[in-house]
Amino acid sequence: MADWSPTSWTSKPIKQDVTYDDLAEVESALSKLRKLPPLVTPHEIVELKKSLRNVALGKAFVLQGGDCAELFDYCNQDMIEAKVKLLLQMSLILIWGANKPVVRIARIAGQFAKPRSSPNETINGVTMPSFRGDNINGFDATPEARKPDPSRLVSAYFHSAATLNYLRAALTSGIADLRTPLDWGLGHIITPAIKQKYTKIVNAVTDALRFMHTVGLDQDRGVQTAEIFTSHEGLSLEYEQCFTRLLRHPPGALPSPDQYQEQTIRRGSSAPTPKGYYDTSAHLLWIGDRTRQVNGAHVEFFRGLSNPIGIKIGPSMGNTELINLLDVVNPNKEIGKVILISRYGADKIADFLPGHIHAVQASGHLPVWQCDPMHGNTQSTPSGVKTRHFTNILSELKQALEIHRSAGSFLGGMHLELTGEAVTECVGGGAGLTEEGLSERYETFCDPRLNEKQALELAFLVAGFYREEEEEEELIGSDIH
Ligand code: PEP
Ligand code: CO
Repeated sequence: MADWSPTSWTSKPIKQDVTYDDLAEVESALSKLRKLPPLVTPHEIVELKKSLRNVALGKAFVLQGGDCAELFDYCNQDMIEAKVKLLLQMSLILIWGANKPVVRIARIAGQFAKPRSSPNETINGVTMPSFRGDNINGFDATPEARKPDPSRLVSAYFHSAATLNYLRAALTSGIADLRTPLDWGLGHIITPAIKQKYTKIVNAVTDALRFMHTVGLDQDRGVQTAEIFTSHEGLSLEYEQCFTRLLRHPPGALPSPDQYQEQTIRRGSSAPTPKGYYDTSAHLLWIGDRTRQVNGAHVEFFRGLSNPIGIKIGPSMGNTELINLLDVVNPNKEIGKVILISRYGADKIADFLPGHIHAVQASGHLPVWQCDPMHGNTQSTPSGVKTRHFTNILSELKQALEIHRSAGSFLGGMHLELTGEAVTECVGGGAGLTEEGLSERYETFCDPRLNEKQALELAFLVAGFYREEEEEEELIGSDIH
């Protein structure tokens, strides 16, 4: 790839940069990281890319979810299991609803770095750096704790590795086994109409499992385990650079033609070198809404990666700007290489998404369209607590589905901030959490997350939208014949 190297980002303007006091300590942390083994392999990364190609073509759905800010403390058995189970349950509901395979991507094992709207904040009269995520500084409200500490980058790797190790072990040991009874946790659904709808879905899933058991299909490995890919925002480029390595493409990978060409020229031989740069810190990395400038450091870094990548797009993204960006990160228009993660807000999506869809359709790019109904719907309560309303989250998702449908496009997935814990951070949902109730278990270190019940409820409601859509199509079909 022309003029690209894992360090070429350093000559570009950068947003959300972290200033460290001691550069020798930074270098010692980075040189340690450069020697450590990859967390994921090109084989797995390419598997995800192939799955995302199917999503882009409308043959699968992608569910991505996890904490806004993962903490080193979340690296424990209970929290990892709770999150994995929740993603598995949600994906099963969505498979039922959308009638398509679901690609699961967790925001886990590395979702530490956070972009902030202001580099400093004042707490109890003391001004100090804002919390930038556990890989950068500590959350405690003291100037000492908030000082960026390069050794945290090394800790980030080891916490990611321990989390991923347990995630992989839990999956191979049967946590995703469809034959174990699932606790659907629907006791909180209060309206009889919704409860009835949910019971119907659960019965259908249970029936299907029973049928598979009867005919012996559940002996297949496919029902014993599931794949979960990892992802995080690729914000700390020093860190990501350490894990970006020139590795052999696995068989069946489709490296872009210019990668082959470039490496052939460099080696001065006629045989292509089947290698590419893989960021092995996670399967999928995404660029945040605050760092996606076309000429900026993050886009420069991302354009050289062989991984699939996400790009957050909000109301400030122009139509032409979006296409320029796609041309830079995906010049060969590889299908499903890019996930466009839209996050406008329930009251703005109708103003921006149609324009973005039309521009992309006209450009010939075929990305995955994913709706993040969280980040455009953050608001503060009168007492200053950051929250999100379930109705707004649901409304943005529903609008995304409808807008895509009427534009001849389709929504490929959703991107949620959620946790398997019974936190009280988002308002609403069947359990009727109110603003007054938020203080009960408000634990996030960044944005408010859906709790387990809210997340499951949302999955049921989205599954319901797909079912309704299908029924409508069947009705239209039967009118014609
Ligand atoms: C996030 O996903 O936590 C985030 C910061 O999102 P965005 O870049 O869309 O604001
Ligand atoms: Co967030």
